[in-house]
Amino acid sequence: MKVIIAKDYEDMSTKAFELVKRVVTENPEAVLGLATGSTPLGLYAKMAEDHRENGTSYRRVRTVNLDEYEGLDITSDQSYVYFMRKNLFDHLDIDLENTNIENGRAENAEAECARYNALLEVMRQDIQILGIGSNGHIAFNEPGTPFEAETHVVELTESTIKDNSRLFARVEDVPRRAYTMGPKNIMNARKILILANGANKAKAVCGLVKGKVTEALPASVLQRHPDCTLVCDEAAASLL
Ligand code: GLP
Repeated sequence: MKVIIAKDYEDMSTKAFELVKRVVTENPEAVLGLATGSTPLGLYAKMAEDHRENGTSYRRVRTVNLDEYEGLDITSDQSYVYFMRKNLFDHLDIDLENTNIENGRAENAEAECARYNALLEVMRQDIQILGIGSNGHIAFNEPGTPFEAETHVVELTESTIKDNSRLFARVEDVPRRAYTMGPKNIMNARKILILANGANKAKAVCGLVKGKVTEALPASVLQRHPDCTLVCDEAAASLL
């Protein structure tokens, strides 16, 4: 794994942006694997700014998102489909038809997972952007998820519910279940870019880079990926 330690959040976002821009410039039809959470917001702002100022086009770019809460209405401002529009897609010239995410309101969860897995087979990510949970989760793959798992529905752990509750009015409002790509779908990406900032991620980052590869720390599987880059700030790198 290549490790790049950035000065701060701004610097981390700039370095991440440079990697993503290279992928889009080299292949205007690239498939971008996208993540939600607060970590990639700076990167998304830089992509929007670059599109505005330099005209970098996303018209033919295709996207697949990692995960989505189960049960939220798509108009809910807590859904990840809403998050992606508000923080990225609405600021690019991307065709929304080319953007993909699990349907958190699907009637048949098993069929929805199968649909998403089939889609990922034909839309292999040229780059997969990831954040990391404080317990080492990636997407919504919580500790204990088999590395071989594909898209599935998960019960979120108390620690993830607590971490994510800051974005909801009340902790009771955080959905208990979510759809997520599995580690296998993530590892299938041609290139992986994982971002982390802040001291609360230091322990997970240490496990990601230096720990044993174990399903107890889902992100550790990335040590087996041939082209994975971690860009983190100094606080997140403090235990390395
Ligand atoms: C959620 C998302 C993950 C994300 C993680 C960290 O659980 N499903 O994809 O990486 O939160 O979020 P943040 O970037 O806000 O710390």
